[in-house]
Amino acid sequence: MTAFNNAEISPLTSLDQWEDDLLVRYPETETKAKEDYRNYDDPARDTVREFYRLNHTYQTYDFVREKEREFLAFDKKELPVWGAMEFLNTLVDDSDPDTDLDQLQHLLQTAEAIRADGHPDWFVLTGFLHDMGKVLCLFGEPQWAVVGDTFPVGCQHSDKIVYPEYFANNPDSNDGRYNTKYGIYEPNCGLRNVHMSWGHDEYLYQLMKDYMPEPALYMMRYHSFYAQHREEAYNHLMDDHDHEMFKWVRAFNPYDLYSKSPKPPVVSELKPYYQELIAKYLPATLRL
Ligand SMILES: [Fe+2]
Ligand SMILES: [Fe+2]
Repeated sequence: MTAFNNAEISPLTSLDQWEDDLLVRYPETETKAKEDYRNYDDPARDTVREFYRLNHTYQTYDFVREKEREFLAFDKKELPVWGAMEFLNTLVDDSDPDTDLDQLQHLLQTAEAIRADGHPDWFVLTGFLHDMGKVLCLFGEPQWAVVGDTFPVGCQHSDKIVYPEYFANNPDSNDGRYNTKYGIYEPNCGLRNVHMSWGHDEYLYQLMKDYMPEPALYMMRYHSFYAQHREEAYNHLMDDHDHEMFKWVRAFNPYDLYSKSPKPPVVSELKPYYQELIAKYLPATLRL
């Protein structure tokens, strides 16, 4: 396994930089043409570009399979769900504490926006849980193996993935098994047969797969798969059931991106409601 230096582990000054950047690529109102994205003049852009360079270079099929073996054993830590959230919240980065919400606040704002729109309680709970997989950072994983847009591995990388030029550095791009349109997969085989680049989405899905309804599991598993839910770049791997379920992934995405308000939620007021939801759907403790 390659050892990574500090600059390769934490190219972003804050994990939120990736999500802030998503807002530039996918603004809530389409006033800013998407073409502007590449020209957007902001020093943070260089950091994000470096983040994607690392992500696209190192997320190979073999890397993903290795991470699956390492983390899907769930032998790192055992915590109650709320305790796992508090553990996640120990993830402090260099971002300005006055303007950025912490992880728990983002999760609560997402969930509260879903609740305010009258959606079912499992949808609300999904909003609350959706980024819990970022605990991977606390196990020492590099940022580019935790956050960032996800994409299928084992087949050709779409040029609709952000910064596609960096896939030239990915060894899979020169591997005949993996660099064709379908690679190791069959046409329309369904995403359940497809390995995605490794990160907080897949990890959370695997943690939750026995407990949450299927639409919730799709939201968790594919919420960072922008190349599909925004760009439809992988219709050739999707089956009819995926298309049906992606309606939920698309319903979830605006709550993730556009629910950020500078007014932090009051955790103590909301905790009892979420504790009850957790108890309704999830076991007393989770093995991370
Ligand atoms: Fe996320
Ligand atoms: Fe999120």
